[in-house]
Amino acid sequence: MKLPSHGSNPSYLYQAFEIPLPDKIIDFSVNLNPFGPPLKIKESWSAWLPLIEDYPDPHGTELIQLISETEGIDTENILLGNGAAELISLVLNYLAEKHIGIIQPAFSEYEKAARANRCHVTYIHLPKDNWSLDAETLSGKLDSLDALFFCNPNNPTGISYSSAILLDMLKVCEKHHCYLIIDEAFLDFLEDGQSLSHFITESNYLIILRSLTKMYAIAGLRLGFLMTNQKLLEKLQRMQPHWNVNALALEAGKAALKDKDYVYQTKLYVRKERERMIYELKHLGYQLSESKVNFYLLRDPSLHNQSPLIHYLMQKGIVPRHTENYPGLNGRWLRFAVRQQDDNNILLEALTAWKQES
Ligand SMILES: Cc1ncc(COP(=O)(O)O)c(C=O)c1O
Repeated sequence: MKLPSHGSNPSYLYQAFEIPLPDKIIDFSVNLNPFGPPLKIKESWSAWLPLIEDYPDPHGTELIQLISETEGIDTENILLGNGAAELISLVLNYLAEKHIGIIQPAFSEYEKAARANRCHVTYIHLPKDNWSLDAETLSGKLDSLDALFFCNPNNPTGISYSSAILLDMLKVCEKHHCYLIIDEAFLDFLEDGQSLSHFITESNYLIILRSLTKMYAIAGLRLGFLMTNQKLLEKLQRMQPHWNVNALALEAGKAALKDKDYVYQTKLYVRKERERMIYELKHLGYQLSESKVNFYLLRDPSLHNQSPLIHYLMQKGIVPRHTENYPGLNGRWLRFAVRQQDDNNILLEALTAWKQES
């Protein structure tokens, strides 16, 4: 049975488990804003249509300017990508054949892109089921590495690490002449988001990745950006295809970044729903990760591998994200998105029934 390597597109998971696709499904396997794209994007869609007749701005100047203002970072330090996924591939293309460390568990595309670029991959595992991190322990593991990938807030655990820890990590990496690549695809969901973005000009070794597809629910459009020092950025830019970001994504990005209230309201709602779900689910006897974002890990401690629970939920049309391809988790956990209240209640009911029936 070959399981899909990502969340979303749930029909592939149904195929893999040989479960007939129910008429109605609720997809908890994809971690996007539960409210969908901001209203401005939906309302402007037809007005933007004429843009597809011409080539998009290859430099994305207006969007970069807006990111620069939002982040307080110079435009020369910002590079747009066709989703953060393109930027992960780009960085690993630049680091082809080098020694890459990945702090696990983490998003699977780091390893995939590293292997596609003939890199040597080393896993650095966070302690099982608590996923704490300290830079000192890391230090001994960096000797042979050229770059280290770290996802903060972490996908799949949802745990966020403080800027003090991140700064210690950066210092350790610099001492070892090792790039530190921090993927902040879910930073927008944190209420006290801590980023090292302001260190990019001082450091020769820091790269920060961001995605706009999560907070603004535009995964189908593809949009992300990278922040690093100007010298490295120019080298990366030369390796990118021209027109890598399409015209509609550029417009949507501009509209999204202007809608600060949407981000604020989303964070409040997601926190309330996440805290409610975690409280209720712990009460039912489930184990949960200490997530601070729009998804969390859950396991029924009476099962080693969670497959029976996946089957049970999928038959009811509830789609979790399996964790078979997350090194260190290996199917012992399931990941769920925080969705809107009605959907979360349906999940809660199903997980209550599972406990009563099993
Ligand atoms: C941690 C992480 N980084 C990057 C990405 C890719 O984001 P994008 O949709 O911007 O390519 C994902 C997508 O799931 C992700 O989970």
